[in-house]
Amino acid sequence: MAAFISFEGGEGSGKSTQASVLTDRLMALGIDVEFVHEPGTTELGWQVRDILKRGLHGDGDMSDHAELLLFSAARAELVLKVLQPLLSSEKPDMSHGEQSDAQPDTPIARPSIPDTIIIADRYVDSTTAYQGYGRGIPLAQVEAVNALATQGIMPNLTFLLDLPPVSGLTRIGNLQLGFRLNDSVLHESATRAQEGARFEEEPLEFHERVRQGYRELAAREPGRFCVIDAAQPQERVSEIIWAELCRRFF
Ligand code: TYD
Repeated sequence: MAAFISFEGGEGSGKSTQASVLTDRLMALGIDVEFVHEPGTTELGWQVRDILKRGLHGDGDMSDHAELLLFSAARAELVLKVLQPLLSSEKPDMSHGEQSDAQPDTPIARPSIPDTIIIADRYVDSTTAYQGYGRGIPLAQVEAVNALATQGIMPNLTFLLDLPPVSGLTRIGNLQLGFRLNDSVLHESATRAQEGARFEEEPLEFHERVRQGYRELAAREPGRFCVIDAAQPQERVSEIIWAELCRRFF
């Protein structure tokens, strides 16, 4: 049985650091961890990531709808090639999408201890927050595309690292590889260091809308989301995450 945990948050919220810390901690306990990063992880995902992070080579801007569909195309690939196979041995109650009569926010029953934990550095909530709230694409349209891309596969638990955008964006200027990373994350981070920063360069209001979007999503599904004040010291945030994970799964 596999459990699926996602990390979400705005720029500089520290979610990638925390995803990495949790991955290391679980691996040290001998638990299988599959780390996925959006967009990325699959061949298509990496190629789409390059376009999405750098923008187009010419002067032209990418349309908001094209952006939504590109993120979703990468996600569809991830779901089909990585997540579905990993979750296929899962018990039915681990997948929200397979329960047609489930309430949107039914608290998740404590499952037995997972033998594999999938840790996602961003998943579908990013699309709702960035393309829906941030870009202003009508939420019903975003949700329809999200449903197609995810095939109903949703995380069992989502950590939202909540931080005022001003703080996060300030952090990014100084934030480099000052924390311990496992090899796969180190590789991804090195790759990311060479990438463009299309979203980071958006105006502050964009990031405020993204934050608001995340908070509304979390309020809508308190059973799935664990919202953490990301202004706290990194070690404290890690402990809150660990405590919540143990409460849910161990
Ligand atoms: P990334 O390097 O992963 O940034 P971060 O460290 O903040 O996760 O870049 C991904 C960027 O793409 C990030 O700015 C958020 C944005 N994004 C979306 O706009 N929509 C999405 O669906 C996803 C997954 C990411």
